[in-house]
Amino acid sequence: MSEDLRTAEPPAPLPGTGELFTLDRAVVHLNHGSYGAVPVPVQQEQQRLRTEQELDPDGFFADLPHRVAAARARLAAELGTDPAHLALLANVTEAVSVALDTVPLAPGDRILVTDHGYGAVTEAVRRRAAEAGAEVHTVRVPLTAPDEEAVRAAVLAAAGGRTVLAVLDQLSSPTARRVAGPALLAALRERGVTTVVDGAHAPGVLASPVEPDADFWFGNLHKWAFAPRATGVLAVRPEWAARVRPLMVSWEHHRGFPANVEWRGTYDCTPWLAAPAGFDLLHRLGPARVRRHNEQLAAHGAAVLADRLGLEPLPATPGVPMRALRLPAGVGATDEAAVAVMAELWRRHAVRTVVRPWPGGGVLRLSAQLYNRPQEYGVLAAGLAQVLGRAGLRV
Ligand SMILES: Cc1ncc(COP(=O)(O)O)c(C=O)c1O
Repeated sequence: MSEDLRTAEPPAPLPGTGELFTLDRAVVHLNHGSYGAVPVPVQQEQQRLRTEQELDPDGFFADLPHRVAAARARLAAELGTDPAHLALLANVTEAVSVALDTVPLAPGDRILVTDHGYGAVTEAVRRRAAEAGAEVHTVRVPLTAPDEEAVRAAVLAAAGGRTVLAVLDQLSSPTARRVAGPALLAALRERGVTTVVDGAHAPGVLASPVEPDADFWFGNLHKWAFAPRATGVLAVRPEWAARVRPLMVSWEHHRGFPANVEWRGTYDCTPWLAAPAGFDLLHRLGPARVRRHNEQLAAHGAAVLADRLGLEPLPATPGVPMRALRLPAGVGATDEAAVAVMAELWRRHAVRTVVRPWPGGGVLRLSAQLYNRPQEYGVLAAGLAQVLGRAGLRV
């Protein structure tokens, strides 16, 4: 184990954050990265908006396009992009389908994805490829690839021939690492490859998450930007805006992007309208302080698992509030086995965390958010020691 892991001191809790969330205290929540947890002031703002909606639905819906535009403008400023090229939608799952429906593909074209990609996104790529007669090529990025440069080299080595599209994570879900950074995106652009960047985890984590070189970039605000769930964002480069093909057609269709993507009839837009309250909270707390706290706590959690169980921490990306560790050979290597490890940690130890299958041995990802405390990673370590012990491994 490296020296920096053994000495990964946990951060002090940020003052005033103890009562910010309504999570069940009987549960050890080490999986903020999947579904987030909505802070109380943001829950209250969304409830206020819902109450307003119920007082006068006609008035609420009549004003909605203007209010959505105002929320979009504020969110675009927070994300460092132009509101004319940003649409609000439900989530990343929706955004990837919009992007894939928009990019023209011909039989024989090649689409790159990596083995660190999110399963649902890769499913969408496969369906689109099958419809177009295109080929999907999965770039294998070694779990131990040391840094962004090594990832870039692996992707670019596969980007030849008829490669027309690359669908890449900005921060990967199972391995919590940077895949599509500015240098890789610029290099793909130079080669004429269209890029679709899954930034699900980037808002609230990266100071300026929208990648200007990405043809399509999307993210979720409910993970690390303190927004309610169902707050996805899709940013497109200007040259794509007029060509975007919304998944459904409604009243604002003739207005073009972004309203044509956002408007979908009678829909609950209160998550979008409440999303700015998440950024308000982040600013009150201090975005840099929140990021530092969460990154340090995640590093501490990884050090606890490495120290007590001898697990191998995978390379970390600076600033990311999640860490991934390799489970011992044979543990969690298949879908069923990974689900069984998560279920056992939950049922016997009330711990929520993520294990994803990987050939040879699964990958465990832990998260750190303001509500987490250092001792919770000790609970995870103790629970995991029992899981591994029952699997016949000595830890
Ligand atoms: C990298 C990545 N992409 C896509 C998604 C899908 O997000 P959603 O289910 O909100 O559409 C997730 C969810 O955790 C993710 O981590």
